[in-house]
Amino acid sequence: MADAGTQNQKEGDESRLSEAEIAVHWKEEEVYYPNPRFVGQANLTDPNVSDRFSEKNFPECFREYADLLSWDKYWTTTLDTSKAPFWKWFVGGKLNASFNCVDRHLEKYRNKAALIFVSENEEDPPEAVTYQELYIRVNEMAALLRDFCGLKTGDRVTIHMPMVTELPVTMLACARLGVIHSVVFGGFSGEACGARIVDSGSRVLITMDGYYRSGKLLDHKVNADIACRKASEEGTKIEKVLIWKRFRDKSASPTPMVEGRDFIVNDLLKKFRGHLVPPVSMAAEAPLFLMYTSGSTGKPKGCQHSTGGYLAYVTGTSKYIQDIHPTDVYWCMADIGWITGHSYIVYGPLALAATSVIYEGVPTFPDPGRPWRIAEQLGVNIFHTSPTAIRSLRKVGPEEPKKYHYRFKCMTTVGEPIEPEAWRWYYEVVGRGETVVTDTWWQTETGGFLCSTKPALDPMKPGSTGPPMPGIYPVVYDETGKELPPGAGRAGNVCIRNPWPGIFQTIWGDPDRFVRTYYAKYNKDKTSTDWHDWPYFAGDGALWAKDRYMRILGRVDDVINVAGHRLGTKEIESACLTVPEVAEAAVVPIVDAERGRVPEVYIALKPGVKPEGIPEKVTLAVETVIGKIARPRAVRIVPDMPKTRSGKIMRRVLASISNRMDYGDITTLANPEVVEQIRVQVQGAGPVEKKAAPEDIKRFGQDSG
Ligand code: WT7
Repeated sequence: MADAGTQNQKEGDESRLSEAEIAVHWKEEEVYYPNPRFVGQANLTDPNVSDRFSEKNFPECFREYADLLSWDKYWTTTLDTSKAPFWKWFVGGKLNASFNCVDRHLEKYRNKAALIFVSENEEDPPEAVTYQELYIRVNEMAALLRDFCGLKTGDRVTIHMPMVTELPVTMLACARLGVIHSVVFGGFSGEACGARIVDSGSRVLITMDGYYRSGKLLDHKVNADIACRKASEEGTKIEKVLIWKRFRDKSASPTPMVEGRDFIVNDLLKKFRGHLVPPVSMAAEAPLFLMYTSGSTGKPKGCQHSTGGYLAYVTGTSKYIQDIHPTDVYWCMADIGWITGHSYIVYGPLALAATSVIYEGVPTFPDPGRPWRIAEQLGVNIFHTSPTAIRSLRKVGPEEPKKYHYRFKCMTTVGEPIEPEAWRWYYEVVGRGETVVTDTWWQTETGGFLCSTKPALDPMKPGSTGPPMPGIYPVVYDETGKELPPGAGRAGNVCIRNPWPGIFQTIWGDPDRFVRTYYAKYNKDKTSTDWHDWPYFAGDGALWAKDRYMRILGRVDDVINVAGHRLGTKEIESACLTVPEVAEAAVVPIVDAERGRVPEVYIALKPGVKPEGIPEKVTLAVETVIGKIARPRAVRIVPDMPKTRSGKIMRRVLASISNRMDYGDITTLANPEVVEQIRVQVQGAGPVEKKAAPEDIKRFGQDSG
């Protein structure tokens, strides 16, 4: 079937092709079919869905998703393209996201759990929050934000919190007021949080005093101080820091409070007991939140998501792909500080009145049976996680799932390509060979899924995401803009031809970068208001099989996908350059069996500097500026960087050396001799090792705009 082994290029021919286009020779995997018990109860079983969402019905097809929401005012125009590529969905419509995720469920589901919080400390019992309780807590928090902080519609608030119930409560309180939340992943450093405060122009920072991680109680309040200092250095003053308490009866942080700036939320809330705040009726295209993500430059991009389009899209995809019914207990193990958590822990599941589980800690703590015990105890029947978590649970506890009596009807994997081996363990062992698996491909920018199998309709193919989602029309282009149709057997740049409701609206404060990064590459007419002229450039290499299943090969830009999280090489490099002794830094991805990719750092020192202690300083700098997640696997001090004659560092050559693959032709370099020196330093004196490299590593460091 399809493109298995299609070898339409000869060796040597490849040099004339861009790296993104080289032929990829997969073994075609056998497919698995959804089990009839799942199909019998599924939300999406109509095979005509593809037709309903086909191009001839676009954009009206997306009414189906929007109709899952409660609108204060119905929209008049489904899609407005007049300011292409700044698409507007459901124009004229009005709604409130917090109303849709909370208030409207009270009548039927008042006493049903909306959220269940699971502490990392296994001694603590799980804490369920009913929809009624969520309603009360969101209202009280909204009252506090409005009356104590003076926040109003359109203001931005930065939230730097761990995985606790108070996080969605805070987000929904913002949404209730039309305040734009910007949640920064709790594992990011105070400095990284500060940089995002500055970019978004927040006056209020909301945090928590501490949380459990790998059995330790971490002081998190200290990061708020660093964030405020960093922000004020760059001219943005945080007026108020609101600190949630992790424990009712004690503080989780020894860091002192700053008089007049810091406030304990739990104390403030006493003044707002029972306060109700009417949800502000927001225009469909009003921004709901910002989510920062890494790109090709050192500056993270604040992806701005809309209220109506975003909520419609995540609700529709949660219903049809996650197969969420109000009776389900759904657990997505991602962090709410990433887009997966926003869309598929908070907004999508709550809009559908599901019960959504929030787990504070590390999946393998205190042992790799933990997730399966949680699933058993809470009766989780939908499970959602990343290949990194799957690989690590498989490595340390391959037999653990067999010890527990949970039953999943469907499971998801997201965030990175999954190796067929890991997929099969997920399916056979975690899913007992009967649970439907969806591999969902999407991005921070896209709001929700772009490709996935429809769980009751499409067979599963290990290692491939699925066909395009209903209403998503992809295209794979080569570098010159020539289309590589399904079955072409060659990889290219995957784009989406059409707008869809979940697509982000712009980069906060930088609309030019938005157009340049995502639309300029394949747009032929900048003045066009016809969506057909504006394919969305996703930044991933992909191979499209004849059966229309997409195989994602990884990023084509300078982004490293570490454990399913995007880090920009330029961001890590600029962190390295904060160490005064460092003259130059180059960051490359290396393949890691568990975390997918991890960064490795090459540095050249300023003249006369002694190397002792420098690698440690560089590692610390990366942790301070970005966070532990970006910690390099190794810091290598080299005499000089391999460079082109124009002085550009050849990261591709360094990536090849780190990954023990052939570094290819280096004759055009300004200093080819240094390459062999570095190779010997990294690999030892033996002969050049040759290892087949994954596509993203082969392509790494290519210019992609
Ligand atoms: C990048 C987006 C989508 C939420 C989590 C990550 C990679 C994502 C898959 C998948 C292969 C995937 C892509 C994409 N990616 N899902 N199912 N198979 N690769 O969001 O941080 O914005 O990262 O993650 O390279 O571009 P993100």
